[in-house]
Amino acid sequence: MREEGLALQPKGLSRKAVLAELKKIRDQDQDYDEGRILCSMCTKPHPLAEKAYQMFFESNLGDQGLFPGSAQLEREVIDQLATLLHGEKAVGFIVSGGTEANLMALLAARNMAKVNQPEVVLPQSAHFSFTKICNLLNLKPVYAGLDSSFRVDASEVEKCISKNTVAIVGTAGTAELGVIDPIEKLSEVALRHNVFLHVDAAFGGLVIPFLANAKPNFDFNLKGVKSITVDPHKMGMVAIPAGGILFKDDKMLDCIKTETPYLTDKVQYTFVGTRTGASAASAWAVFKALGMEGFQKVVGSCMKTTKLLADGIEKAGFKLVVEPTLNIVAFRSENTRGLAEKLRERGWFVSYVPRYDCIRIVVMPHVKRKHAVAFLEDLREIEKL
Ligand SMILES: Cc1ncc(COP(=O)(O)O)c(C=O)c1O
Repeated sequence: MREEGLALQPKGLSRKAVLAELKKIRDQDQDYDEGRILCSMCTKPHPLAEKAYQMFFESNLGDQGLFPGSAQLEREVIDQLATLLHGEKAVGFIVSGGTEANLMALLAARNMAKVNQPEVVLPQSAHFSFTKICNLLNLKPVYAGLDSSFRVDASEVEKCISKNTVAIVGTAGTAELGVIDPIEKLSEVALRHNVFLHVDAAFGGLVIPFLANAKPNFDFNLKGVKSITVDPHKMGMVAIPAGGILFKDDKMLDCIKTETPYLTDKVQYTFVGTRTGASAASAWAVFKALGMEGFQKVVGSCMKTTKLLADGIEKAGFKLVVEPTLNIVAFRSENTRGLAEKLRERGWFVSYVPRYDCIRIVVMPHVKRKHAVAFLEDLREIEKL
């Protein structure tokens, strides 16, 4: 039996009472502004993201004849992402997140290849969304090993390719360590074997183009790259849900098309049917407000804080798993899991990653210098105890 009071009540409450209850419940959630969330790839949305979201919160991109304005915003956001990632003819959609974006890419690859027992070659470091996707699409995952810097070994990937391979995947900014697979080499492998290459840049796609230092090649500049995941709701500071999927050209869309029997659109391409236009509006507003310069500042500041943290962690006697490429710091101690628990007791939300026996910190825009300094102080104190 459920607790009493949880069923729909016979009479509604006043607006004031509803809002008061919501406020109480909202207070249980963590607040990005406190700077204690060090384990999330999402962040406090840009103030304009919220405003734009409210303006378009009724709109449904699953029925675009009713919402042509929202559809225009989605096209414009996709055009901006495509230009950023050198996709002259690229097309795409704002979807629910990286998981759906990766799903759409592998659906397209599988349907295009038309083999009976389809396989996909994944780095051992691939995001866990691919486990779900393989399950859904009936794809056999074949895992390729990593090199000493935790990047997928391109020669291993090549060895994993068989007549059943429908796609290979590379990650530009792994969720756990923020490393970038050798996409250039993967592109050569893909071209040599005429196989689809999907780049999961859910996180890195809105970081790498804005780095001040050398930017690795990872996008449609590379001939073998056929699709890219890039999520505005991560480093794009856009309201959730806002994932992004880009395909190299519109020919690939044919094989993921579904006819709609009763909507104002004749076909849909996305997995989700009814989908909010508020996400596209929110992304549009943030992209307009920041421009290249704004994004460079955001990324520059996150990278500076990342360096401060990485240096401080090393000085305190801990070992970095790998030198940070993006705004993710991973480190370990003699008893890493225990250290993560102690940090949690002091109010820090960090991830413990058993696979690498490391603590992982994602230095998102809400993590400011003062938070990094306070974190390092706590870390040194714990070490002394
Ligand atoms: C590299 C990568 N791919 C895919 C995803 C899945 O994205 P989402 O949680 O938005 O579905 C993530 C999430 O952190 C990610 O880091």
